[in-house]
Amino acid sequence: MRIVNTGQAEAWNGYEGEHWAGHHDRYDAVNSGFNDALLEAAAIGPRDRVLDVGCGNGQVTRLAARRAASGEVLGVDLSAPMLARARSLAEREDVRNAAFEQGDAQVHPFPDGGFDAAVSRFGVMFFADPVAAFGNVRRALRDGGRLAFLSMTGLAENDLGAVFAAAAPRPEAVVGHGGPLSLSDPGDVQEILEGAGFRDVTCRRVEAEQVWGRDARDAAEFLAAWGPVRHNLGQADGIGAALADALRPFERDGAVRLRSTAWLVRARR
Ligand SMILES: C[S@@+](CC[C@H](N)C(=O)[O-])C[C@H]1O[C@@H](n2cnc3c(N)ncnc32)[C@H](O)[C@@H]1O
Repeated sequence: MRIVNTGQAEAWNGYEGEHWAGHHDRYDAVNSGFNDALLEAAAIGPRDRVLDVGCGNGQVTRLAARRAASGEVLGVDLSAPMLARARSLAEREDVRNAAFEQGDAQVHPFPDGGFDAAVSRFGVMFFADPVAAFGNVRRALRDGGRLAFLSMTGLAENDLGAVFAAAAPRPEAVVGHGGPLSLSDPGDVQEILEGAGFRDVTCRRVEAEQVWGRDARDAAEFLAAWGPVRHNLGQADGIGAALADALRPFERDGAVRLRSTAWLVRARR
């Protein structure tokens, strides 16, 4: 297996991936409000062959597989612990037309033109060379094949940004500029995708409610353990208590609910 994103491979096969695999239900509660918009944008038909890039624990892979009931879906990811979780959840839900492969999407030897659509829920923001990586995904699509993915918008546009602003002296440093926020500027997204050979690129802002926990304390504990927060703020004194205080205003109906926006990006080969 050829890996060029070695730092990411270490992270997603280490703490980060173990945490996501161990808390798959909680990460899905955070992100699943975006699923319908993503899957609609990908316009998956019953016979389609679909690629889920950076599929993680595979919730979107399974949902895509239900839409492509007579087709098939391949989830690709760097993370062995998350792929193990994805396989066991697909088996538990008796999803038989989904398969999972470990690989670096930037260089993975996908079959040329092997897919009608490629999707990703927040799995395409971590490439060292995004033009090369999206070029590889484009190669995997047939002519006219569809790309649809979600990427994070800037923190200031989300309740999470307000939480970090209340809890940390430098909120912008909590998530950092590479990684999760690397595709938060639609101008950059357009340039990268066109550079990779895609056409008809559009970025639309979509909104969803994210459920981070039962109450502020529970959500703060989970958020403090989220990789970027642990990495950038983990050593700060009292961060758990500060996050809990910042999350309390968002407690509603038995949960902590944050309003979140994302870019829904579409393009064609
Ligand atoms: C934020 S998680 C999202 C996971 C999943 N799509 C979801 O919505 O729950 C990012 C995922 O991208 C994967 N990833 C990061 N870089 C990758 C690469 N170069 N090739 C394949 N997967 C990658 C990580 O292993 C991780 O599973």
